[in-house]
This record gives sequence, structure tokens and C-alpha cells, in this order.
Amino acid sequence: MLIFTTASELSTALAAERSAGHRVGFVPTMGALHAGHASLVASSVASCDRTVVSVFVNPTQFNDGSDLDAYPRTPEADAELLRDAGCTHLYRPTIEDVYPAGTAAPSAAADLEYGALTTRLEGAHRPGHFEGVVQVVSRLLDIVRPHVLFLGQKDYQQVAVIRHMIGQLGLEVAVETVETVREADGLALSSRNRRLGEAERRAATVINRQLAGIVTGLNCGWPARELERLALAALRAHPLLEPEYVEVVDGDTLLPYQDGAPAREVVAATAVHAGSVRLIDNRTLRPPNP
Ligand code: PAF
Repeated sequence: MLIFTTASELSTALAAERSAGHRVGFVPTMGALHAGHASLVASSVASCDRTVVSVFVNPTQFNDGSDLDAYPRTPEADAELLRDAGCTHLYRPTIEDVYPAGTAAPSAAADLEYGALTTRLEGAHRPGHFEGVVQVVSRLLDIVRPHVLFLGQKDYQQVAVIRHMIGQLGLEVAVETVETVREADGLALSSRNRRLGEAERRAATVINRQLAGIVTGLNCGWPARELERLALAALRAHPLLEPEYVEVVDGDTLLPYQDGAPAREVVAATAVHAGSVRLIDNRTLRPPNP
């Protein structure tokens, strides 16, 4: 595994790979890697000749400075996991290397129209978050120029926003979404899980159970709004949990799903504080009455 700290050296190395006819897969991350990231890398290794992983805690997507400071950083363990998973090129840049003109420099990606994709759910609760995500992902795509971008389904809205950005900017990169990896008790793997205390960790299993309950309810024909209300109440009733939202939305528009409406995919999504740790998760289903 080659390790790069500058965009110029990485771009040069990858230009040679593309010229040699190698298919390049790219997995952007913020480090503190776990089995969910390993599964993204495995998907890339399975279909690409070279797998590039970036580890960069992007300051512009944190609306809360204390969340940025608390974000776990585990560079040695990350490199080991990536080597074992088959990553060929690791990019570990400084902030200046990613943003040579400063973090406030204009970004074509951030200036695009995203409509409800960035104003609802996470967008409503984390102002400026998606502007930072598209700013960094467009910059990383420009450096790496991959054939395929691999993203995790746990960040469902992020995938929708990035797909929209790629379409609007006309970038030639395929997007592959990789299923969420879960603990045996259903908790979605997240870099933030390592900040959970023992009691919070146990409490957090309620999140997946409520989402699974919504999916079952929808499949049985229960009204989406009622299921949201019940799940929200169940999460609120737990002394260690504080939900921000529970919503059943159309997977393409992210607008509230209307019972019985046709949709490619329906998503039950939530953000919940377990103590001081903010967790997100989602479950998808085919609409019960297409
Ligand atoms: O999902 C993440 O870890 C980040 O939002 C990403 C895509 C690496 C951009 O910083």
C-alpha cells in the first residue's frame, strides 16, 4: 500500500494507473475505520484494479466545533485495516493540501441547487453539513478521478446528495452504494460508536429495533406518520436516548412518503443522541403498495 500526503503526488501516480488501463475505485473516509469501511474497500477490491482510500477529517462539514474536536483519530490502526483490506493507495492529506485556497474558497459543488435533498433530515439539523460534504467530495474526486466511487448506505442522504452533485456537474464516475454493516445486536457500525459508554451502547440498540419496527409496520399497511410517531415516542421514552427526528421518506426525493404512493424505495431514517454521541441510521424497503 502506497501512502500519499499530497494531492499532486497522488494524482500523478493515479494518472499512470489509468493510462495502464487499470480501473480505479475510491472510498472517501474520515478515518477511525471499522468493518463498515472494510466492506466498502472489499467492494472496490472486488471490481477495481486499484483501490484508493482517503482519510481526512473534513472540518467544513462539521457544524459543531466540539463534534469535530471529539471525532476519533486512529491513523495507525486505520493504515493496518486498509493494508489488510487490499487498499493500494492511501491519501492522508493536511487541510492545506485539500483546500490550497482556504476552506472558504468558492466551490462549484456547494453552489448547486439541491432542493429538499439538503434541507430535510440531516440538512435541517446540521446547517452547512452537506455544503461541506459536497465541497470535499468534489475536490477529492478531482484529485483521484476514480472510475467508481463507493459510499455506505448508512449515510443514505449523503449518497443522494453526492449522486445529485455528480449528475449536475456531469462527472464521469459511477456510484456504488454498499449495505450498512451491523453489530450482532443490530447497531449500525459507526466511527462514533467507540465514544459510547456501556449503558449508552446498550441503549443504542433501540434505534435499529425501532427502524425495523417501522419497516414491519409499513409492510403490514400501517400509516407512515403513525409509525414515525410511535418510534419517536419509544426512543424518547428511553432515559439515555434523545431522538432528533424519525421520518419515513421517498428514497429519491427524501420528501415524506405518502402511504400507498409509488416509489422506487422507501426509507425510514433517524438521528438519535445516545448521551453526547449523535448517531444516524436508516432502513429501506420496497413500497408495500407499488
Ligand atoms: O461519510 C464520510 O465519512 C464523509 O462524509 C466523507 C464522504 C468522507 C466526506 O468527508
